[in-house]
Amino acid sequence: MQRNQRFDASLSNDGRYRMLIEAITDYAIYLLDPDGIVSSWNPGARRFKGYEEAEILGQHFSRFYTKADRAAGLPQKALEIAAREGKFESEGFRCRKDGSQFWAYVVIDPIRDASGKLVGYAKITRDLTERRLAEESLRRSEEQFRLLIQGVTDYAIYMLTPDGRVSSWNAGAERIKGYCAEEIIGEHFSRFYTEQDRRAGAPQAALETAAREGRFEKEGWRIRKDGSQFVANVVIDPIRAPDGTILGFAKITRDITERRKSERALQEAREALFQSQKMDAIGQLTGGVAHDFNNLLMVILGSLELLRKRLPADPKMMRLVDNAIHGAQRGAGLTQRMLAFARRQELKPVALDVADLVRGMTDLLHSSLGATAQITMDFSSGLNKVLADPNQLELAILNLAVNARDAMPKGGSVSIAAREENVVAAPDLKAGRYVCLSVTDDGCGMDETTHRRALEPFFTTKGVGKGTGLGLSMVHGMIQQSGGRFVLESKKGEGTRVELWLPVAAADGDHAREPADAKPLNGREGPLRILAVDDDALVLLNTAAMLEDLGHTVLEATSGMSALEIIRREDNIDLVITDQAMPYMTGSDLAAVIRAEKPDLPIILATGFAELPPGADEGLPKLSKPFRQQQLADTIAKTVGF
Ligand SMILES: Nc1ncnc2c1ncn2[C@@H]1O[C@H](COP(=O)(O)OP(=O)(O)OP(=O)(O)O)[C@@H](O)[C@H]1O
Ligand SMILES: [Mg+2]
Repeated sequence: MQRNQRFDASLSNDGRYRMLIEAITDYAIYLLDPDGIVSSWNPGARRFKGYEEAEILGQHFSRFYTKADRAAGLPQKALEIAAREGKFESEGFRCRKDGSQFWAYVVIDPIRDASGKLVGYAKITRDLTERRLAEESLRRSEEQFRLLIQGVTDYAIYMLTPDGRVSSWNAGAERIKGYCAEEIIGEHFSRFYTEQDRRAGAPQAALETAAREGRFEKEGWRIRKDGSQFVANVVIDPIRAPDGTILGFAKITRDITERRKSERALQEAREALFQSQKMDAIGQLTGGVAHDFNNLLMVILGSLELLRKRLPADPKMMRLVDNAIHGAQRGAGLTQRMLAFARRQELKPVALDVADLVRGMTDLLHSSLGATAQITMDFSSGLNKVLADPNQLELAILNLAVNARDAMPKGGSVSIAAREENVVAAPDLKAGRYVCLSVTDDGCGMDETTHRRALEPFFTTKGVGKGTGLGLSMVHGMIQQSGGRFVLESKKGEGTRVELWLPVAAADGDHAREPADAKPLNGREGPLRILAVDDDALVLLNTAAMLEDLGHTVLEATSGMSALEIIRREDNIDLVITDQAMPYMTGSDLAAVIRAEKPDLPIILATGFAELPPGADEGLPKLSKPFRQQQLADTIAKTVGF
């Protein structure tokens, strides 16, 4: 306390100011006399300008100016302005003692005595070099940033005022939305939204969410200047002042229409692949089961037929056997459909006229469709013949007609039409000419799930015992196996249209084999020595029994190898009937060896499969399993040439 008092007392007011100024090192503070001669100096001045007090006192202040400024008379002008206007203030380069320059902020105030006479100037200088550098680099980085954003073309990046008006616009925004900067700056951003979104208040809600949560992100439809729409990914961030008030919003929009499209395409491809894998798996399974079933049914049918012949003429017993035969035949029909779905049935394609075939079915169609359905037919004139199995195609058309009937319980109309088209190249069809046969009904149509699953085997909406769910699968499989295309179009309440595309038969009649008329044999044309080959003993037994019943002598072999042994041993064999699907040596393998050794020995291939490699054994007569005795007799007759 005492010391302070002493301290205070020891200083005059002048002394105190001097102390203050002496303490300042961030500002150069010094006095000039009326002519501009330096008359005081402080540590700040020494630090900036590099002169000691003793060196500079008495010097003219113009030495702090650059040569150019001196030549322009700037020092004098500064003093004049200060004297005249009461203050001079400017920024500019000044020189240090060592000749280096610094950016200075300068204020000059005139000092007057009580009478108003100018007695000198107070000069305050500040070194702004650093601030200036910082400002410069900020300006440069802002410029770069602006150029960067302006240059981005993949994203629309722009700013909004707090109330949602566009305040900046980049090249991406122009590209994506179609407006140029002049057209859009100042407009409200809600114009990019759809009418519906605008009415629902989506633009405002987006800004509110961004303000409240610090970010808004969403995908949705936006509108371009030309009115077209695109799928946009939109991000909105609020821009805030240090005190938290919202200065505006930064908005980034990306056009993701393409991405969406490719995602959808990928998804569809995946589903299609999955579907086809599933169908393949079901096909394998069904085909396998059907194959075994075929063999069993063959045994049952064959034995029943023999039994029927040997039974005493008792009508009661006959009826039972007939029932059993009927049941087995229905089972055989079912396995045929399963094989058709699995694309493993034996097709006998011939060149046929689709229009003739359908017209020939008119009565059948009328009776299956019932009186309440109207049938119209429309075939382009001059249709080429197609290559297809006539029986299977008839069955397919019948299946479609029955489906149409079921879809129109109160009646309706079914139209069957055909036209010819040239297919250049399609992923599912070889280039060439095709006849497109269509069956269209105006029935109940299918909902989405039914449409998606209609081709699956065993898929039916008709209830247990009513539909097998094999109708469409069979038609589909048969068409695929025939080298054609199956198209199913249907919508709930709008009817159904099925198209069967079939390849036009080659003009040279290559495949135009008409099925030869079967000659009845009845086993009376003379007994033959027949070698029957089958790896399934039960089937072999059954075939042998049927052959014997026809009056032939039968030799049996359960493999290709043992069959060859018998053939080499016995030389009076008239005919070989062999199963195709056997382990180690298939029926066609066996046939190839036999033909090499005994070219004249006729061979019949019995098979429930269409598993022969294309082109193989074209010439061999075939017998499809399960066969009945009459079919066996017919084939033998044709083969041996009775
Ligand atoms: N013309 C059609 N109109 C409406 N739905 C149909 C039509 N054709 C088929 N469907 C639908 O597709 C399902 C599968 O048909 P598909 O022919 O394979 O079997 P199904 O008719 O049920 O049985 P099946 O043919 O053995 O009698 C049907 O159960 C039905 O729901
Ligand atoms: Mg059906």
